[in-house]
Amino acid sequence: MSIHVLFPTLVYRARLQRGNWQDFNNRLQRECLQLRADDAAGRRWSKHSYPGGYTSYASLSRLYQISPSFEALRLKLNRHVHTYVRQLEWQMEGRSLAMTDCWLNIMPRGVAHSLHLHPLAAVSGTYYVSTPPGSAGLKLEDPRLDRFMAAPPRKPDCAVANRPWVTLPAEAGGVLLFESWLRHEVPSNLARQPRISVSFNYGWF
Ligand code: NI
Repeated sequence: MSIHVLFPTLVYRARLQRGNWQDFNNRLQRECLQLRADDAAGRRWSKHSYPGGYTSYASLSRLYQISPSFEALRLKLNRHVHTYVRQLEWQMEGRSLAMTDCWLNIMPRGVAHSLHLHPLAAVSGTYYVSTPPGSAGLKLEDPRLDRFMAAPPRKPDCAVANRPWVTLPAEAGGVLLFESWLRHEVPSNLARQPRISVSFNYGWF
């Protein structure tokens, strides 16, 4: 007898860099707070589309074009994306993946970001800048869930690979990458201090 594991969903998790990542994150954090202070349009947009928090998604969505720190982050992330693509065994046909969007998110206590995916992108991900104790993780949903129909539920203690939802912890200095069609959400943030992250998309050109 044999069991074939087919059609896996690959999610990539790594530390952004070896050595002293705290200084890099402190710089990013200062910039994130300053960008929020300067970005009146983004704060207005967040009021109705990111209640209780701030995101630069609709106002400053190419941070690497306006900040050397975010450009440094982009270059570091490129290496991780290429490693991920090797694992996915994508045939790139002489084309390349490039960052198309990069925005910041500040979630105070109680703020959540409901289920969504990232259309018009190939690879998406998050880099964690500040994750005080109790910070919400990233909850990923089995992409086949809408086809399960009469399938029985899974045992509560089943293997992680068989779970319909998996929450990966948010850890400062950590990178998560996933294919952009994978639905995900950030559950209500329970940390007392704001959880700060940078999200991004890569497109295939
Ligand atoms: Ni997202």
